Amino acid sequence: MLPIVDHAQGVFVYDNEDREYLDGCSGAVNVNIGHAVPEIVSRMHEQIDRISFAYRTQFRSQPLLDLAGRLAELAPGDLNQAQFSNSGSEAVEAALRLVTLVNARAHRPFKCVVLSEEPSYHGMTTGALAASGHPLRRQGLQSLLANQVTVARVRSSTEGLRASAEDWEDAINEIGPANLAAVIIEPVGGASSGAVPAPLDALRRLRELADEHRFLLIADEVMTGLGRTGRWFGCDHAGIVPDLMVLGKGLSGGYVAIAALLVSDRVAAALDAPVGQMLFGHTMAGAPLAAATSLAVVDYLVEHDIPRRAARAGEHLRPLLDALCRRHPLVTEVRGTGLQLALGLHTDPDRFPGISLDLTDAARDQGLLLYPAGVTPATESVLVTPPLTISERESDELALRLDRALTSLVPSAPAGDVRELLATSG
Ligand SMILES: Cc1ncc(COP(=O)(O)O)c(C=O)c1O
Repeated sequence: MLPIVDHAQGVFVYDNEDREYLDGCSGAVNVNIGHAVPEIVSRMHEQIDRISFAYRTQFRSQPLLDLAGRLAELAPGDLNQAQFSNSGSEAVEAALRLVTLVNARAHRPFKCVVLSEEPSYHGMTTGALAASGHPLRRQGLQSLLANQVTVARVRSSTEGLRASAEDWEDAINEIGPANLAAVIIEPVGGASSGAVPAPLDALRRLRELADEHRFLLIADEVMTGLGRTGRWFGCDHAGIVPDLMVLGKGLSGGYVAIAALLVSDRVAAALDAPVGQMLFGHTMAGAPLAAATSLAVVDYLVEHDIPRRAARAGEHLRPLLDALCRRHPLVTEVRGTGLQLALGLHTDPDRFPGISLDLTDAARDQGLLLYPAGVTPATESVLVTPPLTISERESDELALRLDRALTSLVPSAPAGDVRELLATSG
């Protein structure tokens, strides 16, 4: 049975029996600046005292206007228009709706295929799930998902877990570029592949192909956005600007429910109404409390130079994970970018998902939270994605608890402490 949570501070969470858990996965990879940060909590209180909710057809709100402006400044290129919702799934859904409307307005109904990758995860609402290359979560839902969105999926044609530039190009040619409305991609995989980065040349080639064949490139940065990979956005590693970008998770740091779809000026110009006023809304979307909280989080990310801190924290943590990989035969590899990291695991194909769940349970017993990932035995893994604010000492402690968890699963593995790991990591 799961423990009952009581409170949290920084990278530590406590249950109602006062047991401590180091948050090695930032909740669901969203608590990016840690728990109970005083600057955020006080700005939330200020906003609650003022007004929590006002409906978007009746009022604009200053925090939401400021947040939209802030995101436009931070996002690359001309991603200057924002549309807000409550979850990453809803924001992906909005992206799919927007792509469809652009083509409807241009009288191109045939341009309706959305191409995504297997593995990928874009959300649990029906459109987003239909677009997801996640067989596990789609299981049993085929009748619900059929006709949600016309999806084709590209797979790696080699041993690699992510599609190459050639794989994408072949898939696009097969669909017929004239029929392609959009490609949706995770710059670094999350819960689907277990933090496998897309090849940078594949991202660059997709940008070229999108320009050539006039389809839209949607970057799903729900997990990678706002610092997680050591840069502001996952796309920054490839130096590309997508036409639409989806943000969630780190946008609120887990303090409220908020997500955003950013749209380029060029795409926005092809619509009948300003992006923020499209008929996409949900009751609570972008309400003043959510907006003020998200603005406080984004201010914190800027003021504390969090993407750069994440890159440095990743440089400290990764050699520790590499050492664990050498020490524990259960671990096949360490992968990821910045602080979006994962351990690939040896899987029993007859029992999937298995070992990732066992390791998550064993880690919890050692006071460490991990996030099981993977959609097939080949991708089975655990995400190691602590808050971007984690200190070096806390990362050492994370590695120590992970070492104990791995040892508890395969007792023959030599036990040791983090100092030995550091030494063997060379
Ligand atoms: C890349 C990606 N897209 C979309 C989603 C869906 O976001 P949410 O769970 O907020 O609906 C997730 C959630 O894990 C995600 O990782």
